Amino acid sequence: MHKIYIKMGAPERPGVRDMVRTTISVVKADVGSVVGHHRPHQKMIEHARKKLREAEETGLIKSFYVYSVGDDLGLVMTHHRGEENPEIHELAWNVFKEITEKVAKPLKLYGAGQDLLRDAFSGNVRGLGPGVAELEFEERASDPVIVFAADKTEPGAWNLPLYKIFADPFNTAGLVIDPRLRDGFVFEILNVKENTKVRLKAPEESYDILALLGTPGTYCVSKVYRASDGEPAAAASVSRLSLIAGKYVGKDDPVLIVRAQSGFPAVGEILAPFAVPYLVAGWMRGSHNGPLMPVSFKKGSAISFFDGPPRVIAMGWQIADGKLVGVDGTEPSDLFDDPFWDYSRQLASQLAIYMRSMGEFMPARLDPSEMEYTALPQILEKIRKKQEILG
Ligand code: 13P
Ligand code: 13P
Ligand code: MG
Ligand code: MG
Repeated sequence: MHKIYIKMGAPERPGVRDMVRTTISVVKADVGSVVGHHRPHQKMIEHARKKLREAEETGLIKSFYVYSVGDDLGLVMTHHRGEENPEIHELAWNVFKEITEKVAKPLKLYGAGQDLLRDAFSGNVRGLGPGVAELEFEERASDPVIVFAADKTEPGAWNLPLYKIFADPFNTAGLVIDPRLRDGFVFEILNVKENTKVRLKAPEESYDILALLGTPGTYCVSKVYRASDGEPAAAASVSRLSLIAGKYVGKDDPVLIVRAQSGFPAVGEILAPFAVPYLVAGWMRGSHNGPLMPVSFKKGSAISFFDGPPRVIAMGWQIADGKLVGVDGTEPSDLFDDPFWDYSRQLASQLAIYMRSMGEFMPARLDPSEMEYTALPQILEKIRKKQEILG
């Protein structure tokens, strides 16, 4: 079994290349918002739709959906061009660039062009600011897919739910009772500070996986594969803007694509880890720990309390012949729009108020190394003249 996963790496698998494979590309960026870091302007969303409709008409992409969560704008695109395709990346880059210049800057929206760290495109949006998650696969007889998008947090925020979904038998019943899941899953984990990557397999190496994933500011899951055949199961965006830019540029507000059912965890197993709002880094000024609140993308995705709390939306589609199939055209099912999640939201509000009662004391405030900006250097400089040297 170990041999299988060491060899894998989706695109190289023999025989599979000849078949038509579908790719889901999710590219997102914060290129400006109304009333602080709150929500995008409707014109930005309309502009993105117009550009992607044109790309669909030329055949570059097969289908698309434009969403927003908090102040982040996301493009979900399906096509047959594979992951890291320069034309697809350039399309997304141009959409964000145009929205910045034609909508966000003229309206003086807040943080216009915030996530576009470079002026020119150079073949791949990775490293230029926007977040990217992509998953290429051969379509099954029926292929349910969920795209999660979060605001006011970082890519490591997916570590806890991904572990539960693909490695925790107390969350995912299928790991115990579905023979197709029993071989486990392989986690591709990035060290975003050292720029290294490692593949570890659950359940055999689950303690090692947990040891890394428990430090979400350093380690993030980028991909998950099914161990028995190397089939891709999940992909997350893993960029850390502040590490690229070397200064405060907001948190990365990550996205995650997960395939469901028939040999993968069921939709309900994939959503279950979000029921208890776990603490994530981000929130106000990208410098606080707060509970991740699961919300409807139609009703509750714009942040307010202390610029939060951090939140996550879940969009569900079927994939058919390279296209997104939602409940009406490409309109996805709004998976956290169920009275069940009212309880989780209530709990998140309670936890948010509790965390705020601590003000700027750790662990409510992040460790200085993880804060997106801080007055600490100036304060230390100021007290340097006053302080006494001991001993
Ligand atoms: P399928 O066997 O239809 O994939 O789903 C199993 C199930 O009951 C999920 O809850
Ligand atoms: P964003 O990363 O969502 O732009 O938020 C930045 C911020 O400072 C919120 O208080
Ligand atoms: Mg913003
Ligand atoms: Mg944001």
